[in-house]
Amino acid sequence: MRKVGVIGAGQMGSGIAQTIAQHGMHVLLSDVDLARAEAGKAAVEKALAKQVGRGKLEAADAEAALSRIVPAGDYVPMGEAELIIEAATEREDIKKAIFEAAGKVLAADAVMASNTSSIPITRMANYSPDPKRFIGLHFFNPVPVMGLIEVISGLATSQETTDRITAFAESLGKQVVLSQDEPGFVVNRILLPMINEAVFVLGQSTASIADIDKGCRLGLNHPMGPLELADFVGLDTCLEIVKVLYNTTGDSKYRPAPLLVKYVEAGWLGRKTGRGFYDYSGEEPVPTR
Ligand code: 3HC
Repeated sequence: MRKVGVIGAGQMGSGIAQTIAQHGMHVLLSDVDLARAEAGKAAVEKALAKQVGRGKLEAADAEAALSRIVPAGDYVPMGEAELIIEAATEREDIKKAIFEAAGKVLAADAVMASNTSSIPITRMANYSPDPKRFIGLHFFNPVPVMGLIEVISGLATSQETTDRITAFAESLGKQVVLSQDEPGFVVNRILLPMINEAVFVLGQSTASIADIDKGCRLGLNHPMGPLELADFVGLDTCLEIVKVLYNTTGDSKYRPAPLLVKYVEAGWLGRKTGRGFYDYSGEEPVPTR
């Protein structure tokens, strides 16, 4: 691939844009308006500067990668892209509107992919112009660091699309896990029940936030405990995924922990709002319970 469109310039979209640009490809980065797309590029600039500062990246390489990212105010320039990746908010109505609008410019042989965490690919393919060329391409946060991409074929996705997108994912230096289009795919199907269960454990006052996380960090050798990780992913995103698991399977084992619902209702969404299970207003995160 030479040119890729990325729609959504938030945490995931900017990480995806950064990774693609650092692998020599050109990126058109868009969001609801040009200012948000430019803010996404600014976030990439900051992340690259950090790597340069730590001696992990040459300044010239950072500059070259940054120059390959072009913020876009609309989807028209994405008509030149061989792949358009949607990385917008995890809401089906928002994604549907994007696929319909971007579908109008999608080149005849280009692929449209969604970075959805859990919404069925088979269903969303119908919002795009050609379900054969629609696929799930699920990145993990922080995208430049994490070594995995899940590739999810919908019922109508062609083998050619799956092969092209797998090769693209590998060209980013990532390893690929292929998943059928089942709720939560592979990793989130396993991860989210763990995070949800950690919130039940907290809600039942079995242990403190610090001890739940410490238990999983030291007892399981996870880099982050489940509540820290929930704050990192965003509690709203976690809840959306748990709801998809619950609603699509009807299995009560996926019912959302009431405390998770409450935190989201309070607007305590994790790092991005400065408060989740931890308070991020000071130098170090402080557990809130
Ligand atoms: N760009 C480039 N490099 C970055 C980066 C970024 N945005 N963020 C961190 N890094 C690099 C750092 O430079 C550092 O590199 P080095 O080891 O070569 O010096 C390395 O990553 C580690 O970073 P830090 O030293 O700052 O911090 P930690 O050692 O504490 O690691 C972490 C941070 C990588 C986030 C680690 O805690 C971790 O792996 N946490 C778990 C993350 C995880 O599970 N992600 C998946 C979430 S689920 C998901 O995304 C799916 C979705 O659908 C919900």
